[in-house]
Amino acid sequence: MSDANPTEGATLTRALRRIMSAPVGRARAYSLLQRTVGQERLLQRFVTEALALRPGDRVLDVGCGPADVLAALPAGVRYTGLEPHPPYLAGAQRRFGPAADLRGARVEDLPADAVFERVLLMGVLHHLPDPEALALLRACLGRRAPGGALVALEPCPRPGRGWVEQQLYAIDRGRFVRSEEALRALVTSVAPQADFDVWEGMLRVPYTYMLVSLRR
Ligand SMILES: C[S@@+](CC[C@H](N)C(=O)[O-])C[C@H]1O[C@@H](n2cnc3c(N)ncnc32)[C@H](O)[C@@H]1O
Repeated sequence: MSDANPTEGATLTRALRRIMSAPVGRARAYSLLQRTVGQERLLQRFVTEALALRPGDRVLDVGCGPADVLAALPAGVRYTGLEPHPPYLAGAQRRFGPAADLRGARVEDLPADAVFERVLLMGVLHHLPDPEALALLRACLGRRAPGGALVALEPCPRPGRGWVEQQLYAIDRGRFVRSEEALRALVTSVAPQADFDVWEGMLRVPYTYMLVSLRR
């Protein structure tokens, strides 16, 4: 299905994005939306396949949002979540309690020697224009412990997708959803050895992710 009138289509997309952005800016509504579209299966695969954690591993989750991934991590890993959006940070702190290491800090604010076996960037890069995304990638790369990895998960629009999938990217609050080609170019400009894997069919809605792994 295509828009009969592209101008009307763009107006509708903008309106939908505006309508969604207030409630989804709150932790509970964000997590509820994620669960509704099938986040659990995605997180399970992400944790078991992409993170493959061992007891004692340190995990840094940059832009952790309400920290939904924390509930999916195996026991024995040490988790630190960084989140600049106060309502998400407060929601995560309410849910996981004072023992959870959740901070309203930037990567650069961490102690200089703080490194992690896994550094996560889940759904963050598409909120940032290229210069900021590159700066964040570099900062995260520098936080990998020896043998560690930066693991990113991003929406990944590919050609020939249906109208519903295209609309899901279009109404995303992240204004910099990149095509597969653009995302590969962005990442390889700072890390030429990056591994890429396309994940399809993980949600109850048509959606494609790109998993990016950058081993140290
Ligand atoms: C789509 S949400 C993803 C939240 C969480 N990672 C998840 O997968 O559910 C994007 C998050 O990135 C955060 N964010 C945006 N810019 C950021 C930056 N420069 N550094 C760290 N986090 C950022 C936002 O506050 C938001 O919580």
